[in-house]
Formats: sequence, C-alpha cells, structure tokens
Amino acid sequence: MTFKTLDDADLAGKRALVRVDLNVPVHREEGGDAQVTDDTRLRAAVPTIEKLRAGGAKVILLAHFDRPKGKVVPSMSLEPIAPALAKVLGAPVAFAHDCVGDVAKTAVDALKAGDVLLLENVRYHPGEEENDAEFAKALAANGDLYVNDAFSAAHRAHASTEGLAHLLPAYAGEQMRRELTALDKALGNPQRPVLGIVGGSKVSSKLDLLRNLVTKLDKLAIGGGMANTFLYAQGHDVGASYCEKEMAETAREIIRLAGQNNCKLFLPLDIVVAEKMAPGAPARVRGLGEVDDDERILDAGPETVERLCRAMENSKTLIWNGPLGVFEIPPFDKGTVEAARKAGELAKAGKLVAVAGGGDTVAALNHAGCAGDFTFVSTAGGAFLEWMEGKSLPGVAALAQ
Ligand code: 3PG
Repeated sequence: MTFKTLDDADLAGKRALVRVDLNVPVHREEGGDAQVTDDTRLRAAVPTIEKLRAGGAKVILLAHFDRPKGKVVPSMSLEPIAPALAKVLGAPVAFAHDCVGDVAKTAVDALKAGDVLLLENVRYHPGEEENDAEFAKALAANGDLYVNDAFSAAHRAHASTEGLAHLLPAYAGEQMRRELTALDKALGNPQRPVLGIVGGSKVSSKLDLLRNLVTKLDKLAIGGGMANTFLYAQGHDVGASYCEKEMAETAREIIRLAGQNNCKLFLPLDIVVAEKMAPGAPARVRGLGEVDDDERILDAGPETVERLCRAMENSKTLIWNGPLGVFEIPPFDKGTVEAARKAGELAKAGKLVAVAGGGDTVAALNHAGCAGDFTFVSTAGGAFLEWMEGKSLPGVAALAQ
C-alpha cells in the first residue's frame, strides 16, 4: 500500500486538519482538574504537529475522547487535554468548544501559520460514528488538507478517520507512517523465523487473531488465561483456573490449523499456581496435570519462560500481544517480566525485531521497564488487534493511493 506523506505536501499557509488519537487515560480528583496519567499518545502526536508547524501550516487537531455516543458529555471534553498537549509540545494549544460550525470556524480563522488548535470531541456529534457525509463536509470546511495520524483509531470507519480522506487531499502523518512501517516489518514482510506471543485471558476475543497468526508465523506461544483453555482442551486439569471450557473444541481446531500450516505452537510446559489471586499470595510451580481443585493458574512457569526465551534467540522477528500471566499482581508478573526483558535485550542488541501492541501489552512492558528497548511499541489497542487479525483498517485503506 502506498500513501502520500507530509513530505509530499505543500504546507505553507494551509489549514491542516489532523486526526490524532488523544484518547489517553486521565485521573480526576473530586472537583479538580483531569490529569493525564499516561501521555504516550500525546507524545506520539508531536512529530506530525512539529512538521506541520515547521512547514508553515495552521494545525487544527481533530480527536475523540471516550465514547459519548453523539451527545455532549462534559466529563468527556477534550478541553483538559489541550494544556497537557501544550506541555509535551512546548507550544501553546488553543481550544474550541465545537469541532464544526461557527465556533470552530471563528477559532480556525484566528490561526496564524504555525499555530495549533484543538477542536472539541468529534464524538459529541452523531455524524462522526455514522460517518455521515454532511458531518464530514462540515469538518472539511475548516481544512485545505487532511492528515490522518491516528493509527490507533483507524479500525473505525468514522467521519474524521475515513470520510474526510475522500473530501480533502489526504496524507499519512508521521506516527501513522511509523506504525505501518513497523507492523509491515513484523507481519507483512518479516525476516524469518517469526515468533508470535499471544496472551491475555480470552480465547473467544482472540479467535480471528489466532486463526490468522497460525497461517503467517513460524512459531506461536500462547500464554495468559487463554493458555488454560488450550491445556484443558488437551485433557489437563486446570483446577479453579479461569478457563473457557466451551472453547475447547475451538482450541483443538487452532492446534490442528497450526499443524497444517507448519506453525510450531508453544503451550505451557509448567505453570505457577496459587489459591488466591492477591498480591504476594504464596505461589507454587506445578507441572501440567498437577493443579489441585482449589488452585488457579496465574502465570507461566520457569521452564515455559526459558523455552520461550530460547525461541526468541532463534527467531529474527517477534510480534507480541497480551501478557503471559496476571502481571498486575506480583508475584504473578514474573513470567511476563522475564520474557519481556529478554525480548528487549535481544532487540536492543539488534538481534531481534521486536514489535508489541495492544493496551495490556504496553502496560506489561512498561511494568517490566523494557518498552523502550523494543523495536516498536504500537500506541494502538483495538486497531493493533484488527490489524493482527489480517483485517483491512478503514482509516488506513482510505489513505491508500
Ligand atoms: C483506543 O483507545 O483504542 C482508540 O482511541 C479507539 O477508541 P474506541 O475503541 O473508543 O473507538
């Protein structure tokens, strides 16, 4: 797929409508201001904004926050995000209380070359999620060109992520470009062998993902709660563990599919169990089939992690989504932390292209302190998953030339 990038654009004096993803976690004190608790997405938006400013464009940011479902929900305003963005940008960010109509137009008309303006939550209008043609036109009225820099919202066919690309000259922003390049390196056109790690709790939410990956990867390690379902499907007792017993046949189907596609599947060799999922709960290493009725599997065991680390050493590319255990509750973070650090080490040494994505995964890598060592960590949650499932993302497709 080819796209126009900002290097192809004539920016001087142009009004650039830029779709960014400012859907960041915030903490609200009673009666106080909202504080951004993780500014990763704000920092990701900076290179595009800087490039546009340097080129003499007027930068008009479009974004959503949360899911107000077409209504004005004051707690979902983007207003508190403007000062947080200004801080990471090191430049003022003006704010307008609507993204269309007179309010938006007046604010846009006041801009000078290099100024930055954030418009209010596009999802306050029902036309955004409906990808309504009139609403998209109303947004387009404030721009001469459109830049999509929100890969993490590109799985949505909304007016600001898809519709606008058909109304104005459309460009991929710098973060969009980085995401697409990295993802292509990991799954589209990777150096082989490619190893995947898929963790998290539910097989049912990652079915399409697993089905697609076993046809593309050389090796796939399954961890987290979903590994319990695979162990159960193979006849192992999982005690009181989280397990989707009704998915057992599906798990067996994925095991068969992996075999047919020469994808080597790594299921746990050993596990860490406890009676309680609580911080510091006494944890024991068990072999498969040694789980007592009142015990829960909460992490991958040491042998499993060791084999996974060896598999990383013998691979050229790693793509990772989902933790191996309940990493939020130590000591059940051990498997995820050890494996993540190994991947980070290999990536840092230039021996492995290591790409990770999906909400929990990024939190797990941050917890392990090694996100910065990975070749690339996606800012996307749902979009990363859909891309890993092999689906076309409407926001990306609309940019293709
Ligand atoms: C995200 O946080 O993954 C994106 O901003 C998309 O948000 P959504 O799931 O509400 O569309």
